[in-house]
Amino acid sequence: MIKKETIDKILETALIEEVVGDFVHLKKRGSSLTGLCPFHNEKSPSFHVSPAKGIFKCFGCGKGGDSVHFIMEHEKYSYPEALKYVANKYNIEVEETEVTPEFKQAQDRRESLYIVSNYAASFFEDRMWNSEDGKTIGLGYFKERGFRDDIIKKFQLGYSPDDWSALLDGAVKDGYQQEFLEEVGLVIKNDQGRVYDRFRGRVMFPIHSFTGRIIGFGGRTLKTDKAVPKYVNSPESVIYHKSNVLYGLFQAKKAIRDLDNCYLVEGYADVLSVQQAGVENVVSSSGTSLTTEQIRLIGRFTKSVTILYDGDAAGIKASLRGLDMILEEGLDVRVVSFPDGHDPDSYIQKLGAAAFKTHIDKNKKDFIFYKTEILLKDAENDPIKKAGVIREVVESIAKIPDAIKASVFLRECSTLLQMEERILISELNKMRLSKIKKETPRPHFDDSPPPDVEAMMYETPVASDEYQERDMLRVLLMYGDRMANWDDTTDTYIGPYIVLHLDDVVFSNALYAKVVKYYKEELEQGRLPKEKDFIQHQDREISSLAVSLISTPYILSENWYNMHNITVPDETEKLHGTVMGAIFHLKKKKIGSIIAAKQEAIKAEKDQDNVMILMKEYLDLKEVEKYISNYLGSVIIK
Ligand code: UTP
Ligand code: MN
Repeated sequence: MIKKETIDKILETALIEEVVGDFVHLKKRGSSLTGLCPFHNEKSPSFHVSPAKGIFKCFGCGKGGDSVHFIMEHEKYSYPEALKYVANKYNIEVEETEVTPEFKQAQDRRESLYIVSNYAASFFEDRMWNSEDGKTIGLGYFKERGFRDDIIKKFQLGYSPDDWSALLDGAVKDGYQQEFLEEVGLVIKNDQGRVYDRFRGRVMFPIHSFTGRIIGFGGRTLKTDKAVPKYVNSPESVIYHKSNVLYGLFQAKKAIRDLDNCYLVEGYADVLSVQQAGVENVVSSSGTSLTTEQIRLIGRFTKSVTILYDGDAAGIKASLRGLDMILEEGLDVRVVSFPDGHDPDSYIQKLGAAAFKTHIDKNKKDFIFYKTEILLKDAENDPIKKAGVIREVVESIAKIPDAIKASVFLRECSTLLQMEERILISELNKMRLSKIKKETPRPHFDDSPPPDVEAMMYETPVASDEYQERDMLRVLLMYGDRMANWDDTTDTYIGPYIVLHLDDVVFSNALYAKVVKYYKEELEQGRLPKEKDFIQHQDREISSLAVSLISTPYILSENWYNMHNITVPDETEKLHGTVMGAIFHLKKKKIGSIIAAKQEAIKAEKDQDNVMILMKEYLDLKEVEKYISNYLGSVIIK
């Protein structure tokens, strides 16, 4: 864990305009700076940076936060990773808190695994560029395949000497421990206790995590002998989980975000060739079928994937089902296939970069249409097969979480399938329904009614007290650490006053409730939270809320000022009224729903005595409501 003092120092030192400025071209506009938002596509700038508050906020997509949040969002780093990035930019030494010895040991061990992997990559690189057999055999091979030096260097390609212990000997001589080499599978110990290099006489492809650390290797043989496996790969280890890694993502991530699309290919060689053709937004799943983790990894950078297929029609058909998974994650999927057994690599090497790009532009097809066409071709005029096709296509469409997108596909496919749209819609609804039913847990009690599945298909409406709750939070966050005068004698802090008066209020919005709870806990610890504590909060939900609350002030309170025919130039001039207004509007709303519930209870109650009791409670509540209304009238006028 990074020490609190270090975190504070980082946040104090970092200048938001500099941190953001490294990625976004900012222009001065009044007291803030604006630019094109890096998080969504836009032509006119709605992305604002406020140096005074130390925050960024995009009014187009809603993203906002401080310097560290910007790096988290932009580089897809975790909170500590982002802190370290900013610390590094400002030459701040990162101090970590004492951790348990077990944790430290595990951490050190992990670090050691990264270090030996990094050593191995440099070793293989060095051997390829600087040794005789490396130059003739390794580099010679890459050259023969048409790879340029800049690409070979960009991917840190290398060569493992055709020797049983070249790496092992080199590493031990340079002071690295055999134990760690073994753990990441760079060396193998056999049953007789003999230790030897895993990779021998192969060209080496280091595999990077998306943050750029080397976590594993693929080694390709140079022999054409079919008995020799074409690729040998690093085994799974503490630092290498195949299913979470995409080859080339580290080198591609910036381009993926900038171009808002990711090309997906099958092999290492494809990634290299496509990059060499100047198309930098490309990754490979390295021969295995795509996993959900890999899709989510792509989803951090773009919501659009284009799959570049090699292979024959049969292979493509077999893989179609797997692609539904990408739809399910909410990504758009397009497909391009290559002719005559070409893969992207061979296509580029034979026909060149320009032809490759043209081929993609001309042939990319939305996955749903692609699938429809392929299956239809197969079914020909067989009606039973065609029914199967319709079901399969609708099944894919049902996976698309965005209802509007799904309905567009339904319409288009109804033409392709020559089937009435209405029938497809009803088929789709049936699938959705059965999916929800499957996912809804059954209640334990046999006689309780089944959950209302139909109702669950609709989104829950915004709670009717959302606006009042939100405005209350806004006032608490913005003015909690300021003073106001309540009784013309003493000034007191606003935050504690609000929290005291919220004691009987139950927030409908769980996030707001969480913030108020945090506020209370801080007060109990003797700390008065400031606006910046929320903006810089480690909990991304809280910080996002804080930024959006302070970036859109007044909107809500204007309503009630207008309601009372009063114009207030700046609510800070009337802090007392602002605070009381927010508290009482919220309470009025809350009591309104309690009163409504009471009315319902009275209607339902059969017993006359009980009705009398309920009536009494009802009248008391009405009394409180009246008091609040009167108060609201007077506080505004005061
Ligand atoms: P390919 O056979 O298409 O490899 O397998 P490639 O990268 O295009 O290699 P070249 O063009 O023949 O040199 C696709 C991917 O499947 C994995 C590798 O990640 C490879 O890039 N693979 C393939 C293995 O892991 N082991 C193998 O034996 C074969
Ligand atoms: Mn290939």
